Order: sequence, then C-alpha cells, then structure tokens
Amino acid sequence: MEITMRTLEAMKKLTLRQEIPQMLKECGINQYLIEVGVRWGFGLRNLLQADPTLVIGVDHWNATRNPAQNDTNLTQPQLNDMYSRLFHESLFDSRIRLLRGKSGDVCKWFPRLWADFVYIDADHTHEGCLADMAYWWDVVARGGILAGHDYNLATNKNGKVDFGVQTAVRQFIEDRKISSDCLVTIENKGDSGSWLIYKINGE
Ligand SMILES: C[S@@+](CC[C@H](N)C(=O)[O-])C[C@H]1O[C@@H](n2cnc3c(N)ncnc32)[C@H](O)[C@@H]1O
Repeated sequence: MEITMRTLEAMKKLTLRQEIPQMLKECGINQYLIEVGVRWGFGLRNLLQADPTLVIGVDHWNATRNPAQNDTNLTQPQLNDMYSRLFHESLFDSRIRLLRGKSGDVCKWFPRLWADFVYIDADHTHEGCLADMAYWWDVVARGGILAGHDYNLATNKNGKVDFGVQTAVRQFIEDRKISSDCLVTIENKGDSGSWLIYKINGE
C-alpha cells in the first residue's frame, strides 16, 4: 500500500512525458521497459534515462495502407531503412532490443506480469488504442504502469486519422473496473499529453 501511494504520488507530479524515466527510477520500477510504436526511436532513447536493464521497442515498420498504422506514409524501403538504422544502434547498446512485428502478435511473446512499464504510441484510433491496452495490460507487473501518448490530440498531423486515445483509456478503466484514482493524465504542457494507469495488486 505504501508503494502504491508513493508511485501514484510520483505519477501525479509529472508535467511532461520526458520526466517519466526519472519517475520510474525513483519508484524502483525501471528494470524492464517496453515502448509499443517506436518509429525513429526518440521515445525509446528517452526511456534509457530510467537506467533500465532492458528497453524493448516494438514496431512493425510496415507500409500498411492503414494510415493509423503507418502515420508517416513512408514507403516500405524507407521504413526498412528506419528499422536498419535503429537496429544498428541497438547492436552497440545491450540495454536496447527491437522486436519487429504487430503489437498484437509481439505481446504474446512476453510472460504475464513481466514489464515494469509499457508505453503505447502506435495506432491512435479508439479501437487500435483499446486493443493495444488489452494486449499489453497482462504483460505489466503488479505495481507497474501501462501508459501511452497523444491523450489530447483529436487527429494526426495531416488530419487523416481520428484519434480516440481519451475515449479508449476511459472505456478501458471502466470495462476493467480499475479505480479512476489509478489514472493520471499529463495534459497540455508542451506535449500532446500522456496517460498513465497504475496497476495495483490484485489487477
Ligand atoms: C507515433 S509513431 C511512434 C513515435 C515514437 N513513440 C516516438 O516517440 O518517436 C507510431 C509508430 O507505431 C507503429 N505502429 C502503428 N500501429 C502498429 C501496430 N499495430 N503494431 C506495431 N507497430 C505499430 C508505426 O509503425 C509507427 O512507427
């Protein structure tokens, strides 16, 4: 219970996504971290500041025609190049592992309750985000955090994708009967916002 309060209090003090790694470190939930939706690896590199044992980046780097799953509209050769560069970087940092595949497939490779922290920044539609939350919730350890990006955005940059992150997060905690006290959002502070759900014992 004390740990619950400590982590929740620390979550509530966050003002920016960039502060998350330090919070994870201070709360001692910084060993196994996952980011779902990596693209060039900016968020992944930021997570290294938590001083983790392992940071795993999950992305399909796939030129699917669905703009919610290929938001930059890059071609397959361009996405392959993006992956190759990051893969090359990961060869020289033993803390980084990349898993190339669909979120819903890759999540099955993990044991339940394995990760301290999972950050979702992939398909931002209501259905996509809700599915990712369900895939990854079981992988998060008790006392860990499931989180994600773009809580405040209504569409992607070119306006082609309707974002449903807020509605998905609210539906998820309602469906799972998770206390709204465990949900913290970081809103409108120089970023498009993040949401974090603390997983208490018993969930
Ligand atoms: C907004 S970008 C991620 C940005 C990154 N988190 C950062 O901080 O720079 C979204 C990424 O999610 C990936 N993605 C979208 N849907 C996916 C899915 N179902 N499975 C795996 N990756 C997916 C896309 O390939 C894209 O690279």
